[in-house]
Amino acid sequence: MSAVPKAVAARAARLRAELERANFNYYVLDAPTIPDAEYDRLFRELQEIEASYPQLIVPDSPTSRIGVTPVTAFAQVTHAMPMLSLNNAFSEDEVNAFDRRVREGLETSGEVEYEVEPKFDGLAVSLTYERGVLSMGATRGDGYTGEDVTANLRTVRSIPLRLKGDGAPSVLEVRGEVLMLKRDFTHLNSEQRKKGEREFANPRNAAAGSLRQLDSRVTAARRLTFFAYGLGRVSGGRIPHDRHSRQLDHLETLGLPVNAQRRVVHGVGALLRYYQTIAEQRAGLPYEIDGVVYKVNDLRQQDQLGFVSRAPRFAVAHKFAAEEEITQVTGIDVQVGRTGALTPVARLAPVFVGGVTVTNATLHNEDEIRRKDVHIGDHVIVRRAGDVIPEVVSVVKERRPKHVRAFHMPDKCPECGSRVERLEDEAVARCTGGLFCPAQRKQSLLHFASRRAMDIEGLGDKLVDQLVDEGIVETPARSARAHGTEIGRESLWRNREE
Ligand code: IVH
Repeated sequence: MSAVPKAVAARAARLRAELERANFNYYVLDAPTIPDAEYDRLFRELQEIEASYPQLIVPDSPTSRIGVTPVTAFAQVTHAMPMLSLNNAFSEDEVNAFDRRVREGLETSGEVEYEVEPKFDGLAVSLTYERGVLSMGATRGDGYTGEDVTANLRTVRSIPLRLKGDGAPSVLEVRGEVLMLKRDFTHLNSEQRKKGEREFANPRNAAAGSLRQLDSRVTAARRLTFFAYGLGRVSGGRIPHDRHSRQLDHLETLGLPVNAQRRVVHGVGALLRYYQTIAEQRAGLPYEIDGVVYKVNDLRQQDQLGFVSRAPRFAVAHKFAAEEEITQVTGIDVQVGRTGALTPVARLAPVFVGGVTVTNATLHNEDEIRRKDVHIGDHVIVRRAGDVIPEVVSVVKERRPKHVRAFHMPDKCPECGSRVERLEDEAVARCTGGLFCPAQRKQSLLHFASRRAMDIEGLGDKLVDQLVDEGIVETPARSARAHGTEIGRESLWRNREE
């Protein structure tokens, strides 16, 4: 090996610092400072230096984030402190009961101080830093023993390979959640589709699948992210020990990503208000959450409250109504839209999901049905997120009954009997009936009357159905009056009153 010229060693150090700073700004602060092309140039320069002078390679080099040679199995890791779970609360009553138990345990009638934050829908991991350098990353496993996924976690750009500053403890175990951003999930699934590979049902599954890759180069390509929410083993150094919120603030100063939605609040009323606020923000967040977590903030009070079996008495997860449930497809109907597009809709055994009872879900188009392999009679996972139309996510193959029926797109419009046509480069099949088709007529009337068009108050589903079914209106521009049928103002008025 040739000796390293001083200037080259210095350049490598500078490149490393600059690349890690760029990573931090991009992945932790979400505020990019250098263009991607510049990042790539600096990255390649560092890679070339390291290739010529392997003695310059250090474990926390940004070049090590691209993954290493695959392993055949993960080693087991015993957690120095068990990684516990949280009890759940599903209603205000249960949150009130939690707060009451906390106050009883602390023998106080006053308002308790809580640290509150979103409950991330990902996977719990533990990161160990020794003298500020990431030395171990493990999954939660059963809470006592997890798997060594260090090589994979090193590819997660928001996880610092070296902590900032020089005040890091000799050992610092950080706990948090690994997740996949919604946009990275969508991107991954479209890539999977292009490659003809299996798509993931949701970002959580995608994150789990990516983290448990034996080939860390695959993980590197999958784009995971991380939020720290607590501490495990700590020795040496100056870590705040009075309040949980101060510990999180401290982790942030060390360069770890800590969630910006975290707050310190007082009393149970504030917990419920926080839940409401986060529920409203949920759809707009770049990652998935399945509730919020309330933790007693004072660490002495935490100790005083302690644990029951495997969950702390000082914290609780207040969960949102599940957005995914399993139910059975009882039939597949076809709906005709304004432009004649035929949309297959799954009729479902009623199921409570996303806070409402759902009885049907869109299947988008015929290709989608084939791809997801949905048959009538299948058990399926149904998803309803926010105000979004419920959709069939996937089939639970293990539960497929012996006799299921396949769906075929009809060749005649179910509403008007016109020919159905599907152009070669289109995924949708269409009714060719135009405004002759009552379904298309109804939809175009609704569209005409809608808020962003004519904004006709009172002209809704019911009235449109009547106007079309009774042959009173033919198109938005023409009533049957033109053909001599009288529509009394009175009858319109009566309908509006309904
Ligand atoms: S604190 C003593 N905070 O929820 C346990 N957990 O059921 C302390 N989780 O496996 C956990 N977001 O992966 C905490 N903001 C958050 C969280 C969170 C998600 C997960 C965690 C754990 C599970 C507990």
